[in-house]
Amino acid sequence: MSNHVDVNNITENFVKNFFNLKELPHIVRPLDRNQKIHSDILNVIGNTPLVKLSNIPKQEGIKCDMYAKCEFLNPGGSVKDRIAYRMVIDAEEKGILKPGSVIVEPTSGNTGIGLALAAAVRGYRCIIVLPEKMSDEKVNTLTALGAEIIRTPTEAAWNDPTSNIMVAHRLAKEIPNAVLLDQYNNPCNPLAHYDGTAEEILWSLDDDVDMVVMGAGTSGTISGVGHKIKERCPQCVVVGVDPYGSILAQPEELNESDVQIYEVEGIGYDFLPGSLDRSVIDKWVKTEDHSSLEMARRLIKDEGLLCGGSSGSAMWGAIQAARSLKEGQKCVVLLPDNIRNYMTKFISDQWMEARSFQPLVNKDNLKWWNKPVTQDMVQTVKSVSHDSSPTEALAALQETQSQLLTVVNDKGSVVGVFTADNARRRLANLSGSLSEALEKFTIKKFYKVDLAHKPTLGLVSRMLDITPYVVVVKSDASTNTQSSVGVMTSENLLKNITTETKHMNGS
Ligand SMILES: Cc1ncc(COP(=O)(O)O)c(C=O)c1O
Repeated sequence: MSNHVDVNNITENFVKNFFNLKELPHIVRPLDRNQKIHSDILNVIGNTPLVKLSNIPKQEGIKCDMYAKCEFLNPGGSVKDRIAYRMVIDAEEKGILKPGSVIVEPTSGNTGIGLALAAAVRGYRCIIVLPEKMSDEKVNTLTALGAEIIRTPTEAAWNDPTSNIMVAHRLAKEIPNAVLLDQYNNPCNPLAHYDGTAEEILWSLDDDVDMVVMGAGTSGTISGVGHKIKERCPQCVVVGVDPYGSILAQPEELNESDVQIYEVEGIGYDFLPGSLDRSVIDKWVKTEDHSSLEMARRLIKDEGLLCGGSSGSAMWGAIQAARSLKEGQKCVVLLPDNIRNYMTKFISDQWMEARSFQPLVNKDNLKWWNKPVTQDMVQTVKSVSHDSSPTEALAALQETQSQLLTVVNDKGSVVGVFTADNARRRLANLSGSLSEALEKFTIKKFYKVDLAHKPTLGLVSRMLDITPYVVVVKSDASTNTQSSVGVMTSENLLKNITTETKHMNGS
């Protein structure tokens, strides 16, 4: 797509023109939130508190002072309220956005919430296109704000026709009066942080800051903050945080296997957004899901900061980078979003344990907990080829009187699940049709255990706390396949544990 930066073709001129932030029209608001009455909720965006961290730095043996920039306290719950509002004001001033306009935007959710918030106050229709990975909590917030939602496959590369970016661009062409503000290529994205976030950090610390650390998604935050910091506080080290699976930290060493799916939402990309200026970033730290999510839980539990998963990534990165700072120096870490987005995800112990981000705990000493799952415990289900039609899959489902089928590829590996419930949702709620490819009806993210890894009944039980079925596969290293064994549901599990329900200590 022409308005995305090609990794191999970033010209200095492009970056120079895009990041001519000093010359763009500025909106620097009074650096004080304590107004008696605000004209509307959009006026409450920004001026977020900077809070000194008291416990985690001590636990980690950090010598410098660490401060959290609490972006999760914005009215929409994230740092992205700032850019959404700024892009809307700018488009209104330019006459691009006017009564009757329809805002269409691809986002990982938070920019969508910011835009939907602005659209609700200003009276625009708003359509948000976001990948399936993003939490249902974000979707419900968007729906409550009156936005229309379109979900796209998480695994689609940014330039695939089914990706959220490509779908949004197509819709913007098809829908009358549609306006795509395009956070990836809109200078108001870094500008909102150059004028707002960075000014506030500098004001809070009297222009005396040694390190700022933040995650990079569109990278508008880090690029905008970085530009202002380099002007006013040139000795300050700007640290970018990028999850493994994203290419932002190391685009020149790009390898196909570097692009992977990860759990933390909002940071990392498989392309370089126009709103990224790598020249103002001094250092990158790569992060993993488990340490990021664990750190986010510590920020909540040990510091009382009700933030999201990417805040954990930023904090984990900040701890690594701040080890080089001395007593009396100051490190600011930006916490982008709110706990609300993740109530059924990393906040839940069951979710953390079911995904092996946290050790499985047999807290009631159940006898059956550590027993391995064996083939005879598993309910067999029929498999259909990924080449079958939805009609064939439905017929197979009816024939076996079961609720689901596994979908297998040409090598016989399980690639998805076809369920009656998901088929009904697609036909009833998503304007689906049986003439579509089976792929549209296939659930690709599902809980599974591999008999080759000797999963326990405890693990299956933990998974069943948050999903109605667990797919059981058996991998074969010699053929590199994962064949379908069947499924485990609560009924199957109960059948296997009712003879052993007595507690070890109580029998
Ligand atoms: C949760 C979360 N963290 C971090 C970011 C990164 O912000 P930026 O897009 O400015 O790089 C985002 C952006 O969407 C986000 O949603």
